[in-house]
Amino acid sequence: MNTNTIAVLTSGGDAPGMNAAIRAVVRTALADGIRVLGVRRGYNGLLNGDVIDMNLRSVSDIIHHGGTMLYTARSPEFSTPAGVKKAANMCRNLNIDGVVVIGGDGSFRGARDLTAEGILCVGVPGTIDNDIACTDYTIGYDTAMNTAMEMVDRLRDTTESHDRCSVVEVMGRRCGDLALNTGIAVGATSILVPEIPFDFERDVVERMRFTQRTGKKHFVIVVAEGVGGVSEISEKIQQETGIESRATILGHVQRGGSPTMRDRVLGSLMGNHAATLLKNGIGNRVVAMKQNKIVDFDITDALNQKRVFDVERYHIAHKISI
Ligand code: F6P
Repeated sequence: MNTNTIAVLTSGGDAPGMNAAIRAVVRTALADGIRVLGVRRGYNGLLNGDVIDMNLRSVSDIIHHGGTMLYTARSPEFSTPAGVKKAANMCRNLNIDGVVVIGGDGSFRGARDLTAEGILCVGVPGTIDNDIACTDYTIGYDTAMNTAMEMVDRLRDTTESHDRCSVVEVMGRRCGDLALNTGIAVGATSILVPEIPFDFERDVVERMRFTQRTGKKHFVIVVAEGVGGVSEISEKIQQETGIESRATILGHVQRGGSPTMRDRVLGSLMGNHAATLLKNGIGNRVVAMKQNKIVDFDITDALNQKRVFDVERYHIAHKISI
């Protein structure tokens, strides 16, 4: 099959570095003589035919911006079989031969379904959560970690001045990676993640008491979103230790900001790889980074892979932050 026209969309939660991926898809395809359409607001744009013709200059001056120039959405209509068929028909009407879908697992399920309806799709992992099993890194994760670290550093200043404890929730949905690495980077006394069961007395209170006896007077506890309950945890800490405690949910601030170099480079390489696959008539793949190499997997195999949490790193974190 000759690839004449491809489309690119971003879907699900935005992530810094998505713009770099869009830029790379557009410029790679144009260099190969392929027309590119930008689809706005995720799969909704495919359902409504909300597309724009992309040229070399459409993606100028975006590589350093967070968010996504194509906007994004989660589309309930597209998650139905009728919605997928409607989107596939729209692709045919617009002469779209293939689609690059930049997003997370949910977006890849959509890409798999659209491929089954005859439209070749390639997924590019873009999410701050780093929760996609087939890849070592997702676009946006590095920026979010650095943002979370900077925010906790700021909290730490005031926490230290008041001899307090800060209980901080970081994003990540059901994945504890963002919390684990942020916790290491800020020297959190305890890191609570959904992947590792914890005992509040042993893993929080006792650790705080121990460090208190060795002279420490202020504490940071990092809690993954998948554990949650930071207000309750903070109140319990105050009750049990007598240390004044405050809860902070970092929230969506972690999704914004200029992407780090790592996310810009990763987005660029992955976008290039995705457009090249489509040029060669290859779809139903997810682009990934494995041991510093850009590779790709069958979408269904990628979705079936199980994420492995780095338990060893988790234990090291607790050994050295005491
Ligand atoms: O998947 C990215 C993410 O930011 C998660 O960390 C978080 O659970 C979720 O999206 C928040 O979604 P929304 O932007 O719809 O509130």
